[in-house]
Amino acid sequence: MSVAYDKLQTALKAVREKTDFVPDIALVLGSGLGAYADSIRTVCEIPYSELPGFPVSTVQGHSGKFIFGYDGEKKVVCMKGRVHMYEGYEPSDVVMPIRLMYLMGAKILFLTNAAGGINESFHPGCLMLIEDQISFLVRNPLIGPNVEELGTRFPDMTRIYDKDLSQIIIDKAAEQNSELFKGVYVQLSGPSYESSSDVKALRILGGSAVGMSTAIEAIAARHAGMRVCGISVISNMAAGITGEELNHEEVQKAADSVSKRFEELVRASIAAF
Ligand code: HPA
Repeated sequence: MSVAYDKLQTALKAVREKTDFVPDIALVLGSGLGAYADSIRTVCEIPYSELPGFPVSTVQGHSGKFIFGYDGEKKVVCMKGRVHMYEGYEPSDVVMPIRLMYLMGAKILFLTNAAGGINESFHPGCLMLIEDQISFLVRNPLIGPNVEELGTRFPDMTRIYDKDLSQIIIDKAAEQNSELFKGVYVQLSGPSYESSSDVKALRILGGSAVGMSTAIEAIAARHAGMRVCGISVISNMAAGITGEELNHEEVQKAADSVSKRFEELVRASIAAF
């Protein structure tokens, strides 16, 4: 057994000492988007700090815990808070919670984040369905000995974001009369925001929104064969577009302001998954 898999099994055992809940769907709630977890019928909560070998988030607004419960009929596990590479964690550590949720039983991963809008038709507070991603600007989370128990050495990434799940999200947004853009998410390491020229370069590369998470989580999930979908909340226009400076509080506030609409879209989509 690989060291990484051994570590996962130890964490899984710690989870199983607290709950035997088997989720169908895993959600990662990005900054300012944690309110969804408060609205599910909670069965159990486990702070990441109680799990051996687990990366623990240090950023304000990312209080880290798993929340297990029911959203209607659906059994979900939410990650309220995630760790980021900029905290000093290796990409392989950052994706450990994703792999653990897979081992708990989750077959679907719903990723969310706050991101800066690169596409100039976006506006702060809009939602973007993640259709694809650019991840090669950060280190691949699968670097290191392959965890054979999870997936193959060279997993295909032709279509990371599941077409059927994405279509459900599109349909639900239409039913709710909720504006939903589509685009390509670019992950950078952070923690500094981008320069104006970074943003211009990312636009030329085909990016629609930029953030500091998500893409490596999607890679780890696809490696394990999970079906993946995702939504970005555009909390601000990326650097250089409006001429305004970026700050974390503004980003958080903007994400908070759409949290209700976001929650309704996530809830309706999950019910239809
Ligand atoms: N850049 C990177 N990450 C972000 C941004 C941004 O503009 N907004 C929210 N997360």
